[in-house]
Amino acid sequence: MAHDEVSGIDSAASDSSAVETSHRTSAGTAVIGSDVENPGEPPHRARVTDLDPAKAKHADRTVYTLFYLSIAGSIFALAAYMAFPIEDGDPVALRLNTLFIGLGSALALFGIGLAAVHWGKALMVDKEGIDVRHPVRGTDETRARAVEIFDQADKESGFGRRTLIRNSLIGAIIAFPLPGLVLFRGLGPQDQDPVELLSHTMWKKGARLTLDPSGIPVKASDITIGSVFHIIPEGLNEREDLLEQKAKAAVLLMRLDPADLNISPEREGWSYDGIVAYSKICTHVGCPVALYEQQTHHLLCPCHQSTFDVVNEAKVIFGPAKRPLPQLPIEVDSEGYLVAQSDFHEPVGPSFWERS
Ligand code: FES
Repeated sequence: MAHDEVSGIDSAASDSSAVETSHRTSAGTAVIGSDVENPGEPPHRARVTDLDPAKAKHADRTVYTLFYLSIAGSIFALAAYMAFPIEDGDPVALRLNTLFIGLGSALALFGIGLAAVHWGKALMVDKEGIDVRHPVRGTDETRARAVEIFDQADKESGFGRRTLIRNSLIGAIIAFPLPGLVLFRGLGPQDQDPVELLSHTMWKKGARLTLDPSGIPVKASDITIGSVFHIIPEGLNEREDLLEQKAKAAVLLMRLDPADLNISPEREGWSYDGIVAYSKICTHVGCPVALYEQQTHHLLCPCHQSTFDVVNEAKVIFGPAKRPLPQLPIEVDSEGYLVAQSDFHEPVGPSFWERS
């Protein structure tokens, strides 16, 4: 055991404390023992495609075949969409449609994925390299080097040289989203113009206002001041597409003192002795406006609190809705029943592309 004359400490004790110091830890700090050597990189192992041009050629064919398979899958999905349309009430048609579109899309996606992986593993240069960590902000030299690397990657991956693979990859990527785009069309009505369809409801001249859900016609004499009724058009309950029609045609009927109503000249005659009818579908995003405050004559949508003033033609006085509730012009027929004068004069519900 050596003794340091200056410090007065044994050298053995000093070595021991040095080791302890080097291994001292603090919370959250990883410690690498000084006795662990950097193992370095494993020796490079050449792939069969590096050694045998025939195998490389085979891999090349496999990659572009997979990209072509992906294209075929996308086309198959498109064809399936057209060949197996979804028919209302036909579960077999629905099953075939989803099955074949799903198979085509799966083939398209797997084709691109497998081809890309195989291309990278079998054909792209696989030499190991060390990329030393550097500051995020790049210098001019770094940027120039990035361009060099990009060029090098282009050469080594063969992206510019292997034209069949490159073109088939581009084709597969272009073809893959097409089924998704076409499927969006399937969300709308199949045989009618959706804009036209959304612009009209079941209401027409002479259609009686009936109670929701019983379908019993309503007489003007049944409506007292301050009351409110949920209304559907006559004949709605017999419709096969009841829900679709109800979602557009539902109406709220209220009776106010006629003296309280502020009616614009173009709407003169749309109400009957203080009885007014407004669409129940909120002009914000389409929730049913179902809360009527009798004292203030306000209609409130429970979804985002849009508030409509019935006294002033259901104008918006609060909330995110941008348009008044559309008014249904009404009158009384010869038997005293409330009937519509026409359909709404504007589309009901949320704002769509066809509205200014
Ligand atoms: S849907 Fe009525 S306020 Fe949003």
